[in-house]
Amino acid sequence: MSTLLTGITTSGTPHLGNYVGAIKPSIEKSKDFNKNFLFLADYHSLIKNQDPELTFKSSLKIAAAWIACGINFEKVNFYRQSSIPQILELNWILSSVTPKGILNRAHAYKAAVDVNDKTDPDSGINAGLFNYPILMAADILLFDADFVPVGSDQKQHIEMTRDIAGRFNNSYGETFTLPEPIISTDIPLLPGLDGRKMSKSYNNFIELFSSEKILQKSLNQIVTDSLLPGDPKGTKDSILFDYFSAFLKKERLDGIKKSFEDGAGWGDLKKMLFDIINDELSPLREKYENLINNPNTIEEILSEGEKQAVIHAENKIKEVRETVGIKPLHG
Ligand code: TRP
Repeated sequence: MSTLLTGITTSGTPHLGNYVGAIKPSIEKSKDFNKNFLFLADYHSLIKNQDPELTFKSSLKIAAAWIACGINFEKVNFYRQSSIPQILELNWILSSVTPKGILNRAHAYKAAVDVNDKTDPDSGINAGLFNYPILMAADILLFDADFVPVGSDQKQHIEMTRDIAGRFNNSYGETFTLPEPIISTDIPLLPGLDGRKMSKSYNNFIELFSSEKILQKSLNQIVTDSLLPGDPKGTKDSILFDYFSAFLKKERLDGIKKSFEDGAGWGDLKKMLFDIINDELSPLREKYENLINNPNTIEEILSEGEKQAVIHAENKIKEVRETVGIKPLHG
């Protein structure tokens, strides 16, 4: 029986790229596993920003989005990282077996050093950013996860998790499962409106549950060329076609391709795209708005998931503490 686990850092608002690249495929994938752990990485968020309102709102929105998109709670434990104190206990224990050198080599840390002046390479870098990979290892190892679906930018973190787990097991005996990353190549990438990576910092993103009006307005901003209605259009380097690809299965997509080749106008194609995306999102948007207006429901769902997750976490941390020699002094 394999276990799937993944976390989402609560430092943003879910956008359409997150939906296509993470939310939808993860919910789909969870059906193949008997045990799934899905959590809000709210402690990771603190490393990225010191804006309480942002972390709070982001947790609320991300939780509501995942619930609205249809997590199956019979199979998925949904919880906040911050509600499982055993993660932080394990974080410390793992710190003690993690060579500082592997943290020096983490891409995220190196990138932060690279932009700094050579005379003060660690300027503005908090210890949390440096230790980030250990917290992530604790998230994963505490739940004996076999598989961790992540974006390709997170691949190194999973390698580090395996490294840390291996070192612990070598020192103390088999305790942790070495996780495998799942990096889907078959998931279409949804570019930003201008063709670059969809990102808040480029201001080229579409909020997942923006209103119909804003969705339509945003889709109209997808960059196209100046071909006129009647001119045949290629699909290869078309940002607009990438959007169709992210939402349609092969058969319907072939129909769209034909419309491109037959010279449909950009305006008409954008209208078709809006209808397709809006039809899919409308029922979810309604659920999302209901949840956002009833945060008690979200709190109840998370508390329920946390009750289950904590049982697992308590058992595992007991085992780990005993393994390292921290246990009652009697018999
Ligand atoms: N670091 C991940 C990201 O930014 C989020 C994350 C935190 C995570 N802990 C995790 C993902 C554990 C998978 C497993 O995307």
